[in-house]
Amino acid sequence: MAEPTIEDYLIEQRSFPPPDGFVAKALVRDRSLYDEAERDFEAFWARQARELVTWFDDFGPTLAWDLPFAKWFVGGKLNVSYNCLDRHLEAGRGDKVAYYWEGEPGDTRTITYAELHGEVCCFANVLKSLGVQRGDRVAIYMPMIPELVVAMLACARIGAPHSVIFGGFSPDSIVDRVNDGEAKVIVTADGGWRRGKVAPLKPNVDAAVDQTPCVEHVIVVRRGENDVTMVAGRDHWYHELMDGASGDCPPAHMDSEDLLYLLYTSGTTAKPKGIMHTTGGYLTQVAFTHKYVFDLHPDDDTYWCAADIGWVTGHSYIVYGPLANGATSVIYEGTPDTPGRDRLWEIVEKYRVTQLYTAPTAIRTFMKWGEQEPQKHDLSSLRLLGTVGEPINPEAWMWYHEHIGGTRCPIVDTWWQTETGSQLVSPLPGVIATKPGSATIPLPGVFGEVVDDEGNTVEKGGGYWTLTKPWPAMLRGIYGDPERYKETYWSRFPGRYFAGDGAKIDDDGYIWFLGRVDDVMNVSGHRISTTEVESALVDHHAVAEAAVVGASDPVTGQAIVGYVILRGSVEQTPELVEEIRQHVATKIGPTARPKAVLVVPDLPKTRSGKIMRRLLRDVVEDRDLGDTTTLADASVVDEIRTRAVEAPQED
Ligand code: PRX
Repeated sequence: MAEPTIEDYLIEQRSFPPPDGFVAKALVRDRSLYDEAERDFEAFWARQARELVTWFDDFGPTLAWDLPFAKWFVGGKLNVSYNCLDRHLEAGRGDKVAYYWEGEPGDTRTITYAELHGEVCCFANVLKSLGVQRGDRVAIYMPMIPELVVAMLACARIGAPHSVIFGGFSPDSIVDRVNDGEAKVIVTADGGWRRGKVAPLKPNVDAAVDQTPCVEHVIVVRRGENDVTMVAGRDHWYHELMDGASGDCPPAHMDSEDLLYLLYTSGTTAKPKGIMHTTGGYLTQVAFTHKYVFDLHPDDDTYWCAADIGWVTGHSYIVYGPLANGATSVIYEGTPDTPGRDRLWEIVEKYRVTQLYTAPTAIRTFMKWGEQEPQKHDLSSLRLLGTVGEPINPEAWMWYHEHIGGTRCPIVDTWWQTETGSQLVSPLPGVIATKPGSATIPLPGVFGEVVDDEGNTVEKGGGYWTLTKPWPAMLRGIYGDPERYKETYWSRFPGRYFAGDGAKIDDDGYIWFLGRVDDVMNVSGHRISTTEVESALVDHHAVAEAAVVGASDPVTGQAIVGYVILRGSVEQTPELVEEIRQHVATKIGPTARPKAVLVVPDLPKTRSGKIMRRLLRDVVEDRDLGDTTTLADASVVDEIRTRAVEAPQED
């Protein structure tokens, strides 16, 4: 048997079986879906595709697999916007609420499926009137307002792939993405509300459009009421175009393998990759996971994914999954601390939210703000919690479980990527016992293994997480660059998909994600995951957040350096710092004790909330900082650099 490649330090013994009250009403209560998929995964996915999606023309072969290129539901014809809208109207559910939208300043909109359908059809005709044809790409750069969903679905309706660019990105990021996708039209807004102010968007588009010769038209939604410049002939107000638009727009019959969208992954160094997702397989798997992972009861639930639609989480679990399933969802425009640090909990109470899906970085922030914030509100409507985006530390998991879930809600820790399109590893909440910090096991129809450096299967311990079979929502490639697609995902382990995560397998076959393998530290020949040391640091009662990096060390190769943010009112003293270091040794062993622990006010994160360890490594090694344009708050680095210089390096 293969040797573990990444060492296993953190032992987490707690386990939570699905609560009885939850199981009683759960959609899935036994392992039959797992067994069915195990027997014949293609037949399993074919059944899901026919049950969850409405096809204009049925498909022939379920899968054509020419590694690494997959075609799912071959020859099937469908329209994603028809599946998200029309079929619900045809079934008499037009008056059902699709979205409760909550603007940051407190304005609200309630949008039914019939209303959304009407607006989407009109906007689809607007796009056509500006010359957008099937196959043309449309860039969308918008705040979290209903028109963003309308724009995406209108594109899907006429078969024009969209490319959503996160509203926090700079003009340079817009230029790269628009040019790579050769978008003909950009849909934007004057501005959107963030932290009590209007964050302007149109000026960023203006700055970008000078360098994007492919763009013919810019459509602007009025939201922020901020002053904007409109260029005659190129720029158009959304409301003016919509005024005369017809609401009659039959959905295009698209092939199962036609492009639905491009979404660029925000690499910190390399040129962004345009990840390609197509229609049939993508819709099948996001509808499947949204239904079964969140245990969706569309008539009773009010579901809320608190991510941004600019990321894949929003694409799959605010827009396509929930709408395909006829769910009622909440969308919130702004930041969680506006006007107060209890805004999310106020929204949960107001709409009686039943499922909440957010990220570990947000949960750790809520921990730092303290449990008095959620305690101000009645959160008893919640019956399931979800997390995504990073490994969740057991400490944060337990806090979420106790202070948000009132100990009664299962937590689904969902592992996936922009590239995977859909959740792949997660518990089904009525069947699988959870363990704090583990995403548990692959979902039905998903097959993965941990392997060592040579690609041998690791049955217990740490290594590289790989997928061994294609899955319906998988990326179909990198736009315009099939070689880069092969090289990035399929070359490290022949025949397997590998996108860079470490993971370990425990005695029960549970998977524990260990972070990106580029971040794994090598201390005196021991390969230690940043995730495990970070979890041990956050386990200390004084620590709210932690980031760990391996800095070059003449003796040990790399030395572990921990950056920590202290909780609320805790005072920093040399004794406390030493205690925190020792805590890691006690919790997971002396090899993993950080050489230095630096207390910092904040940590550098990408805009999607992931810690930029590369930057922290550079700071501690006193290198050039390189590119920080994807940092949420660039000043954090200067602050950290100062502390790093001041702090004593301990043995
Ligand atoms: O490292 C894994 C981490 O996030 C990466 C994917 O990032 P992105 O494409 O931005 O998509 C985020 C939303 C799906 C993965 O390679 N990641 C995501 N979810 C988890 C996770 N790591 C551990 N546990 C998770 N639940």
